Amino acid sequence: MAAAAALLLALLLAVASAPPLAAASSAGEAAAHPGYSADEGTCTVGAPAARRLELEGRGGTTGRIIDITHAYVPDLPAFAPGAATGPLVRLKASMEDGSEYNLSELRMECHMGTHVDAPGHINQAHFAAGLDVDTLDLHVLNGPALLVDVPRDTNITAEAMESLKIPKGVRRVLFRTLNTDRKLMWKKEGDMSYVGFTEDGAQWLVDNTDIKLIGVDYLSVAAFDHLISAHVVFFKNPDIIPVEGLKLDDVEAGIYMLHCLPLRLVGSEGSPVRCILIK
Ligand SMILES: *[C@@H]1O[C@H](CO)[C@@H](O)[C@H](O)[C@H]1NC(C)=O
Ligand SMILES: *[C@@H]1O[C@H](CO)[C@@H](O)[C@H](O)[C@H]1NC(C)=O
Repeated sequence: MAAAAALLLALLLAVASAPPLAAASSAGEAAAHPGYSADEGTCTVGAPAARRLELEGRGGTTGRIIDITHAYVPDLPAFAPGAATGPLVRLKASMEDGSEYNLSELRMECHMGTHVDAPGHINQAHFAAGLDVDTLDLHVLNGPALLVDVPRDTNITAEAMESLKIPKGVRRVLFRTLNTDRKLMWKKEGDMSYVGFTEDGAQWLVDNTDIKLIGVDYLSVAAFDHLISAHVVFFKNPDIIPVEGLKLDDVEAGIYMLHCLPLRLVGSEGSPVRCILIK
C-alpha cells in the first residue's frame, strides 16, 4: 500500500515537473473540425446518483471517459504525400438503390488513423513467427498511463527523453508533441515533418525505461528521417507496442487509466484501435 502511494507520488511529481502544457487550442480552431469537436469526445458518466448506482451495479465506470481515437473519416491523413485514402466505409447495398437493407463494407489500410503496430510490421522474423496484432498483449494495452508533453522544439531524441524524467516502473506513456499543436492529424495531406522518435531516442527509451506502450500523436512512432531505424530499435524485442495517431488535443497531462482494444485481425501487422482514457 505504502509502495503504491509512493509510486503515485513519484508519478505526480514527474507530471508536475514536466514542461508546461501547450496553449490549449482556441474554440475557433475546434470549430474548424466540423466532423466532431474535441469536447464531444469527453463526457461525464452517471451524474445523477441513480444512474451511477445502476452503472456500478453492472460494473460500469463512473469516471470521466475521454475518447483519444480519431474518427475514421475519408480525409484522414495519408502517410505518403499525395496518396489518396478514399472512402473508408461504402454502402455495398443501399435502400435508395432498391435494396431491402443498407449494408456497408469497410476498406482501409491497417495503419490509418488511430492504430497499433504489431512487431511484424518492420521485423520479418517476428512476422514469420506469427506476431500479428492478434497476439498483442491486452495487459500492455490496458492499464495506468502517463500523458506527457514533449518540448515543442525537438523530435523525441535521447536528450528529450532524458528531460522528461519518466520514472522507472511506468509502462505506458502517451507522448504529446508539436504534432498536436500543428493539428497534423486533421490535415488530409500527409506531412512528413511530423515529430517522432529518432533512433537515439528509441534506444534511450529501451535502455533506460520500463515503457512497453508508446502512444504518439501522428501516424508513426518514428520521425520520418528515422522511419526504419527507430522502428527496428523498438521491435528488436517484440514486447513494445506503438499506438499511433492518437487524438491528444485538449487532454490534461497526467495519469489516466488507458484502454486500447485493437481488432483481432489475424495475420495483420497493424490494426485500427479504439483508445480511451478514464480519469
Ligand atoms: C440507407 O441508406 C440510404 C442511402 O442510400 C439512406 O438514405 C437511408 O437513410 C439508409 N437507411 C437506413 C435505415 O440506414
Ligand atoms: C523532426 O524531424 C523531422 C524529420 O524527420 C523534421 O522535418 C522536423 O523538422 C523535426 N522537428 C523538430 C521540431 O525538430
